[in-house]
Amino acid sequence: MTTPKVDVYLTREEADRSLRTDARLGLTSDPKWLPPKWFYDKRGSDLFEEITQLREYYPTRAERSILVAHAGDIARRTGAHTLVELGSGSSDKTRLLLDALQDEGTLREFVPLDVSESALRDAVTALHFDYPALAIHGVVGDFTEHLGRIPGRAPRLVVFLGGTIGNFFPDERAAFLSELRDTLAPGEWLLLGTDLVKDPNVLVPAYDDADGVTAEFNRNVLAVLNRELGGDFDIQNFEHVAVWDTRNEWIEMRLRSTSDAKVTLADLNLDIALEAGEEIRTEISAKFRRDGIERELDTAGFSLDSWWTDSEGLFALSLAQAR
Ligand code: SAH
Ligand code: TRP
Repeated sequence: MTTPKVDVYLTREEADRSLRTDARLGLTSDPKWLPPKWFYDKRGSDLFEEITQLREYYPTRAERSILVAHAGDIARRTGAHTLVELGSGSSDKTRLLLDALQDEGTLREFVPLDVSESALRDAVTALHFDYPALAIHGVVGDFTEHLGRIPGRAPRLVVFLGGTIGNFFPDERAAFLSELRDTLAPGEWLLLGTDLVKDPNVLVPAYDDADGVTAEFNRNVLAVLNRELGGDFDIQNFEHVAVWDTRNEWIEMRLRSTSDAKVTLADLNLDIALEAGEEIRTEISAKFRRDGIERELDTAGFSLDSWWTDSEGLFALSLAQAR
């Protein structure tokens, strides 16, 4: 029996400093924006788990069905000793990979990494209970900053699920993929989950559900600013907006002020004004096509080994190898 270890690469002080920088920059820009990683405090992580259960939010179910069908192939092809998961959240679907790698007999260690300390600790506790013999080394960290410090023995399989790569802008995505490639040795593996371009009548409700869970998730970022930066956002004054950007092929999430508003962030000494109808962009979720992914992986120095989709063609998993 091994006790799981959790390393904190992103300390409270660093997180606080980076939140301050992001909030000041984003809220004084025109148009205003906020980066998505600040959604995920305890409440935000819990709300995201609720989103994954929604009727409208197909990505989690679709990705899980691909893993059910192909976890064995992935284990056989990679023979990974270390499974690393970026933006791991609850690591729920990842259990299919842990099981398959254990059956294959190669798995030595699991390394989940997430910016949300609460989500990471909950996941590590639950996994340790169900996989008592597995070495678990959790990392509280930022996958845009801490890739170079990922622990574990080669060959590693790095998994990045949930379509989270779509939350980067294209230039950020390219930088992320080539940085990830640089941290791996030739022959090591990446398993990437991407949501696919499809009918906006299916896409948009996944980001704007009838019960308003996604709206509450989106607005939660304002609660984070109120709590962490002494803000006085009147949260109910903001409407959740999800639009499909046809040209860029991404969903854009925004918070729209329903009236003229003055907001103070006391800890930043910052006053901001919002006009009625003004929007703050909080996240994009890009959707992909096979040829684009293959090209982006290739540019970063990965070769596509396998490509799988669910039976309805909603979501894809790409298995790629660093060369
Ligand atoms: N992989 C899970 C969760 C996806 S939600 C799934 O497929 O269901 C996105 C996850 O990424 C959240 O757990 C969030 O806390 C984490 N995350 C967001 N930005 C991050 C960052 N910059 N660094 C590390 N983790 C991040
Ligand atoms: N990675 C998830 C996605 O792009 C995150 C997400 C799901 C999300 N629903 C959301 C982010 C709603 C903001 C608002 O699908």
